[in-house]
Amino acid sequence: MTRHFLRDDDLSPAELAEVLELAAGLKTDRFGARPLDGPQTVAVFFDKTSTRTRISFATGIADLGGMPLIIDSGASQLGHKESVADTARVLERQVAAIVWRTGAQSGLEEMAEHSRVPVINALSDDFHPCQLLADLLTIREHKGTLAGLVMSYFGDGANNMAHSYALAGANAGMHVRIATPAEYQPNAGILADAQKLAAETGGSVTVTSVPEQAADDADVLVTDTWVSMGHSAEGRTDANSPFVPFQIGAETLAAAKPGAIVLHCLPAYRGKEITAEVLDGPQSVIWDEAENRLHAQKGLLAWLLAQK
Ligand code: CP
Ligand code: NVA
Repeated sequence: MTRHFLRDDDLSPAELAEVLELAAGLKTDRFGARPLDGPQTVAVFFDKTSTRTRISFATGIADLGGMPLIIDSGASQLGHKESVADTARVLERQVAAIVWRTGAQSGLEEMAEHSRVPVINALSDDFHPCQLLADLLTIREHKGTLAGLVMSYFGDGANNMAHSYALAGANAGMHVRIATPAEYQPNAGILADAQKLAAETGGSVTVTSVPEQAADDADVLVTDTWVSMGHSAEGRTDANSPFVPFQIGAETLAAAKPGAIVLHCLPAYRGKEITAEVLDGPQSVIWDEAENRLHAQKGLLAWLLAQK
């Protein structure tokens, strides 16, 4: 059966470990797997802007022996002249995989439903699962393990990154804390899924509106922009923004475990969700994280293409 990667829990905990292991191997031996040799094409659609996702998929597909076909919003019939289902029916006969950055998760689900080749979520309004593969790979590299670590997210609890931290962290057996203002709570259904998964893996997922509680003794501190693509900035970035107390700064680091590491999916807004001092400081592993998008997605593609 074709496997897709539309949300973080589309991989079982054991499969997640396999993908991360493959990714680590491909980081050491960059051209060590060529499942797309031929070359086969991978279609990569962008309905929203991107730097990292665009570069890392294009580079990774080429590393795996394939040919990336990058299609920007408005450049194909998808989304205005042709349905998602018909697009999938055309693509599956030609390409090895479909990667799509879009808004509605339901569009990705429809694409997957009609595609016999893997469909990969390159960010939606609800999840950013490829980013989490890179984050977990980075944390594994720096901490040696994932299960049992406390990973605390600060900021918009209702956005794609918060949801993916909850689900992927739970999948890896981590203790995820989401610190967010009361009016930016995670989606209740996704939170429940993450908590159920955590109960199976020995992790946990909690939500607090007290940032100090999330920072206390944490191993990993993470944050994201206060204004995600498609959201209005109104009321989110001014001095009265409810997010201000959730900025990662020196005090947040001081409350965390000594040696705690800091991640940010980027692009970052210094002085908003994170201070420049922390982002550019010695505990930041943000550039490793950005590099790991490449290796993590190669691991994912190699794994998906090997499933029968
Ligand atoms: N982190 C991330 O997905 O970056 P881009 O939006 O630049 O792809
Ligand atoms: N939450 C952000 C992530 C960007 C990579 C957004 O959706 O814009």
